[in-house]
Amino acid sequence: MGKRTLVTSALPYANGPIHLGHLAGAYLPADFYVRYKRMRNEDVVFICGSDEHGVPITIAADKEGVKPQDIVDRFHEMNKKTFEEFGISFDYFGRTSSPVHHETSQDFFRVLNEKGVFRKKSETQLYDEKADMFLPDRYVKGTCPHCNYAEAFGDQCEKCGTSLSPSDLIEPRSMVTGDKPVYKKTEHWFLPLGDFQNDLQTWLDKTENWKPNVMGQVKSWLTQGLGDRAVTRDLTWGVPVPVDGSEGKVLYVWFDAPIGYISATKEWALQKGNPDLWEKYWRDKDTDLIHFIGKDNIVFHCIMFPAVLMSYDGYILPKNVPANEFLNLEGQKLSTSRGWAVWLQEYLKDFEPDLLRYVLGTGLPETKDADFSWKYFQDHVNGELADIFGNFAFRTLSFTSRYFDNKVPKAGKLSDEDRLALGEIERLKKEIETLYETFRFREAIQKSMSLARAGNKYFTEMEPWRLRKEDPERCGTVLNVCCQITAALSVLFAPIIPGACEKLHKALNIRQASWDDITDHILTAGSPVDKGEILFNKLDDETINAQREKLEEQTRIREASNPVPEPIKNTISFEDFVKLDLRVGEILTAEQVPKSDKLLKITVDIGVETRTIMAGIAQHADPKDLPGKKVTVVANLKPRKMMGIPSEGMILMAETPGGEFRFITSDADNGSVVA
Ligand code: MF3
Ligand code: ZN
Repeated sequence: MGKRTLVTSALPYANGPIHLGHLAGAYLPADFYVRYKRMRNEDVVFICGSDEHGVPITIAADKEGVKPQDIVDRFHEMNKKTFEEFGISFDYFGRTSSPVHHETSQDFFRVLNEKGVFRKKSETQLYDEKADMFLPDRYVKGTCPHCNYAEAFGDQCEKCGTSLSPSDLIEPRSMVTGDKPVYKKTEHWFLPLGDFQNDLQTWLDKTENWKPNVMGQVKSWLTQGLGDRAVTRDLTWGVPVPVDGSEGKVLYVWFDAPIGYISATKEWALQKGNPDLWEKYWRDKDTDLIHFIGKDNIVFHCIMFPAVLMSYDGYILPKNVPANEFLNLEGQKLSTSRGWAVWLQEYLKDFEPDLLRYVLGTGLPETKDADFSWKYFQDHVNGELADIFGNFAFRTLSFTSRYFDNKVPKAGKLSDEDRLALGEIERLKKEIETLYETFRFREAIQKSMSLARAGNKYFTEMEPWRLRKEDPERCGTVLNVCCQITAALSVLFAPIIPGACEKLHKALNIRQASWDDITDHILTAGSPVDKGEILFNKLDDETINAQREKLEEQTRIREASNPVPEPIKNTISFEDFVKLDLRVGEILTAEQVPKSDKLLKITVDIGVETRTIMAGIAQHADPKDLPGKKVTVVANLKPRKMMGIPSEGMILMAETPGGEFRFITSDADNGSVVA
């Protein structure tokens, strides 16, 4: 066995289902990596589990009027199952409510406390007297001092994005009772991160191959200087602080959750009947610890958790933390509360895991935020999985089984073209290895697809359907080459699209596929080959549109039940305002612009003259209904061309939080000035 590696993926909060943003951040890349390592026969263990503490859980419970335990039980089981169905191949999926985790995290706290690592400090915090409890930031709401949004949280205004502290809020109120909270003194344990500045710096200086986006963030934390972080909270849900006189206090979720990686490894070892085995993965210098996370978790994995591990002593530190940036959806930020997300369980109702594994893999947010759209999904499934990979494998297998009696034909003397095509196998394999080892999965996938592309091109250029009659021996050689490339692909792609590769292994009678099998002579002449099957069906527009509609429907439902008003824009001067020339007008004609599904061409009588105005409202208004409607027009907007037609102004519309459009009408005469 080669090197030993412990791979972790961020423990997802057990307060909701897994969506594409989660997958692209911490789970899919980790699974590619782990599957690759396993195929190299390396000793690798892949650990994850549910993060079951913290305020996100209690808030979800309050919202539904159930107990936190009910929430975590539900989502732990659900997420565990969904990951399995999607082929995320954890060796163990634990949970932080388990007894082993409570013991392990309490032991960490106790040891650090006895070593005098923590500082105990008194603080004033918001307190709800009626409910008799301290209020976490998320339990306080009030008016945002920046945008006047009335529902801002104590830690952030979700409307304008400003981060806040509870004392910033205008008219703060407790979310438990609605009362105005008071300030009250409370004592907490703090981890003085400043004490670790040098040790952290020394460790980070020695690390290699860290992604610039990750190192950049860590460096900026270190340059800013590290402060004290409270590691306890006044809450009832969590791991109780294991020290006398700490009633009503639990460990801060970001203290206990990363320790969950250790607890889960312990449970994995127990399950294997070798309880001490976990120590090799956490305490032996020959183990590489790799944390896969999203970028919002960087500080916890690169500063706080390493400081905890250093203080305990005897633990290894992460070798790399290949954090990903965020994934947007159809050009917009993912938002579960707005329903702007694709949930994995929903996806799995309609498609095979392989499709999303591949497509998301080609567009991972590795170096910057990336966008997933259903069109992107369709293009890559059809243009690559179906047209290149699937097509090549199908042509090769069906041709071989049909004309060579279900056996790999013998290769005669190889031509330059044959050697060139076969040479791609080893050449690409080497490059792909480096890409996996340096966490560049999107390039690894693109490179893997280029072998299929080369195979497809070779097949087309060699024209075996012609050779079959003219030169059967040469035809056999060509098909031998194609079979070798197909076999190489079936191994090369196994970490990415395990489902399709398993089918190919069966068809080619490849028993156990290991990375070293990727050569230009995987198959021996005469070995059996099944007839090909279509590996990937093309996705038609209807299928894709249905997904888009589903997405829009989801947001419509949520926004209707929970409208979030737009924030107020920045202040402008009165002088700026009076520059606008707003006029009352009346629509004369309206017609759909050819080849545009958004634009209407509208003529409006604004008293002094008639204007042609292009409006992007085709999806919201029927042109037939518009003539005669009174509207308000921005009359002095610089004309601009849309679809080649100059638009001479703008018709004002109100957009409701639910995404509907209404005209701003007036019964004043056409041409009246609005001011
Ligand atoms: N639950 C956290 C999140 O979803 C991640 C926890 S990662 C761990 O952002 F290190 F704490 F386990
Ligand atoms: Zn705000």
